Amino acid sequence: MGYLSNPEIIHHFHDVVIIGAGGAGLRCALQLAEQDLRVAVISKVLPTRSHTVAAQGGMNAALGNENDDHWHWHMYDTVKGSDYLGDQDAIEYMCRAAPKAVLELEHYGVPFSRTESGHIYQRPFGGQSRQFGTGGQATRTCAAADRTGHAILQTMYQQNLKVGTHFFEEFMALDLLMQDGGCHGVMAWDIAQGQHHVFQAKSVVLATGGAGRVFKTTTNAHICTGDGGGLILQAGLQMEDMEFFQFHPTGIAGVGPLISESVRGEGGYLINADGERFMERYAPTAKDLASRDVVSRAIAIEIREGRGCGPAKDHVLLKLDHLGETLIRERLPNIHELAMRFAGVDCIHAPIPVVPTTHYTMGGIPTNRWTEVVIADDQQHEKVISGLYAIGEAACASVHGANRLGGNSLLEIIVFGKACAKQIMKQLEQQQYHATLDPDCWQRGFHRISKWLKGKKTDTSLSTYDFRITMQTLMQDHFSVYRTHDVMREGVEKLEALAKQLENVYIEDQSYLFNTALIEALELEHLLALARITATSALAREESRGAHARDDFPERDDAHWMKHTLASLKDHQIQLHYKPVRTAPISVATFPPKTRVY
Ligand code: FUM
Repeated sequence: MGYLSNPEIIHHFHDVVIIGAGGAGLRCALQLAEQDLRVAVISKVLPTRSHTVAAQGGMNAALGNENDDHWHWHMYDTVKGSDYLGDQDAIEYMCRAAPKAVLELEHYGVPFSRTESGHIYQRPFGGQSRQFGTGGQATRTCAAADRTGHAILQTMYQQNLKVGTHFFEEFMALDLLMQDGGCHGVMAWDIAQGQHHVFQAKSVVLATGGAGRVFKTTTNAHICTGDGGGLILQAGLQMEDMEFFQFHPTGIAGVGPLISESVRGEGGYLINADGERFMERYAPTAKDLASRDVVSRAIAIEIREGRGCGPAKDHVLLKLDHLGETLIRERLPNIHELAMRFAGVDCIHAPIPVVPTTHYTMGGIPTNRWTEVVIADDQQHEKVISGLYAIGEAACASVHGANRLGGNSLLEIIVFGKACAKQIMKQLEQQQYHATLDPDCWQRGFHRISKWLKGKKTDTSLSTYDFRITMQTLMQDHFSVYRTHDVMREGVEKLEALAKQLENVYIEDQSYLFNTALIEALELEHLLALARITATSALAREESRGAHARDDFPERDDAHWMKHTLASLKDHQIQLHYKPVRTAPISVATFPPKTRVY
């Protein structure tokens, strides 16, 4: 009994299906299951292996436990950090909701670190200020040592088990069930048992995480293949602002794993080959705690101008030995272990070699601030896709704009996970029954698998690995920290040529049980679609803003480019549209664009 001989389908009916079991998906599921809704969470890995587990430094909220703070200052920092591409209504919503979101997590059992007086411990992170930039550094990032994501993910999973969320682990989503312009479920493959499953639902939530694996060197786990974005493009919908990938300043040189911004928050700093604390030149006030785009560019310049460290002068050093063993072991235990394991460095005594590394997908599936997926037409009218929601790194609300502040990612997943559940509950008040679906709905899901399993090996066949590494290297070489027209143009041409080779990719394993080659092939389809869109969107944006830094257009150009890119695929061709930034917040005055100085 296999796919080709007997494509058996198992049907399920749920109120809500959530694809992805990271922090966003689980926070959403918890809110819904607590209300006795029938919630399914589909995840291609065991939930506690979702990438939220890797989030280290913490979650921003203006609790004011360490010094005075206010959500409005947090909002200001986030808008400024976004280089004015963030939507201010969504940013206000997130920053206002943050303190309550943290306290709710605490009550669910997240083991936050504590201050001497027993409050939740908060550390300074990049781009944080008080009194709208005039009151010095804020201390806003709530932390569980340097394993905050791990603590949140485990707690959310346990709470979901308590309230009876239905988990479908090691299931790969193949296609969204779209009918009459709305979404009614998802078709999935049970990786271990081999069957096809059709999950019908009144609401479908994409919480599939980022797409960092588009690039060769990344802090992202191998599972971060942008699956939600892939499904969206397959359904003919749009992706937003995909040219904005965040480069975290401190990935371990040569290998990629994250060395948390917490190190700089606790007092660590960067030095070049001359032993100079070079961030003092680039950001005289915030220094090493400037926003990530600023620090990453500074490191790239140091390396480019020959002040990099090591025999190849290809990295800088993150110095933290002066912090002392007690602090490192108590507040940065994970960093200590990672540096030892991946760089062979005991950071209690020696600096860690670091280099900017792809870290976060700031673009994603376009949503409004209620997490509903939207598309825009040529006249820039936005339309909600009924029954379809997106949250977390998969989504673009857009609270990060062109550059995310560290600590706003864990915040986003928790705030919008809950907001999504609330919006779904409103929808379900109006909608009691599942739609009647035409079986045509799930044919594309079948086809996705069968075409790989029917493949024939020829002299020109490529392996998934060869194809993927070529694509990742190309993205790394042509769309990195600094970009120019000529380099990107060549990148787009090579990528489009490579895309035509996808039909030559052949997988040896033709079975349907635990076929990891098939998983990689399906993921590759998602990555390739997103890489193409990233490349074309980046080439088109003729300005420098946030993480999109162009040597040939070094200035931000608000007159022409303060707008969001929307990209879709029609007959395999990329189509670009644009829509305005939502500059009006909900209840406070707009923060108008200014030159960013740290
Ligand atoms: O550096 C870090 O700990 C990462 C945090 C984040 O990306 O929010």
